[in-house]
Amino acid sequence: MAVIPGDGTGPEVIAEGLKVLDAVSGKYGFQLSFHRYDLGGELYKKTGEALPDEVFESIKKCQAIYLGAIGHPDVPPGVLEKGILLRLRFELDQYVNLRPIKLYPGVEIPLKDKGSEDIDFVVVRENTEGLYAGAGGYLRRGTPHEVAIQESINTKMGVERCIRYAFDLCRRRNQAKKLTLCGKTNVLTYAFDLWKRTFKEVAQAYPDIETDYAHVDALCMWMIKNPERFDVIVTDNMFGDIITDLGAILQGGMGMAAGANINPEGISMFEPIGGSAPKYAGQNIVNPVASILAVQLMLDTLGETDAAEMIEKAVIKVLAQDLKGVAAGQMGYSTSEVGDLIVEFIIQSKVS
Ligand code: IPM
Ligand code: MN
Repeated sequence: MAVIPGDGTGPEVIAEGLKVLDAVSGKYGFQLSFHRYDLGGELYKKTGEALPDEVFESIKKCQAIYLGAIGHPDVPPGVLEKGILLRLRFELDQYVNLRPIKLYPGVEIPLKDKGSEDIDFVVVRENTEGLYAGAGGYLRRGTPHEVAIQESINTKMGVERCIRYAFDLCRRRNQAKKLTLCGKTNVLTYAFDLWKRTFKEVAQAYPDIETDYAHVDALCMWMIKNPERFDVIVTDNMFGDIITDLGAILQGGMGMAAGANINPEGISMFEPIGGSAPKYAGQNIVNPVASILAVQLMLDTLGETDAAEMIEKAVIKVLAQDLKGVAAGQMGYSTSEVGDLIVEFIIQSKVS
């Protein structure tokens, strides 16, 4: 396994995830070896390189990647994001970005009348195309007549494989069995016409799954007003980025939100989605639960489902019984103490 702790608070939360991984691998009898890569802002400042090719070649030999966070206040925006995070996602063809939105019991959120029975859905975000593909350019840059074009690239193949993944996931989850396409067919008439037609075609093979469609703006409203209406949502890269930050707040905040960048046939990458939070770095106060839930997603994806379930049980217990809050500095415990509480529960539990 490749471990990229990254920038800011990344190393602190990854340390807690590795502690948990160590506890469950011992208990459930699988072995892992780790290769640590110190990529990020510091390396970039020293060498001018975000992801050296020989490092990438070495990462490609791993089975999975565990990533902390990328982003550094001294490096211009986009350099590390494109040079590391998006390069890994794109070149490893991790075409699904899977982001569960699940409110655990005992976690306080701003919506007082919604509980953990109402908020439990998964966003399947297309992860290699759309506005993120980098297509476009400038004309007359720096002049009063400057034109900047940023195009959304949507291929039939890319859209179809993502939608198919979402239908399969919806079937596997076996909950409401409802898949919602999130788009903007009333304005983005080309891109989301392709999405909608493909959605209909793929749906033919899944008669057991109920389908629904929502424009992204309306969907944001429903996410707050009636989050219980969602089971699985599938959407493009940009909308997926936006609605999963909203989703993070629905489950308590950035310290709770994990994501998987999935290539079903290749190397997948798992990360807390919150970013490097430079203002909290080095203080041992951020919430490591997102990072630990990223480990859960990793083990679930790799087929170690019992160990993954154990991690979720431990997280549920610690959230409901131990933590005072889920925001940085509000937990009543430090980052590493929260990791210790989760590990302690795992060690004391019986293997089922
Ligand atoms: C995310 C992040 C990234 C994205 C940034 C850091 C490039 O916001 O993983 O959601 O926009 O995809
Ligand atoms: Mn984002």
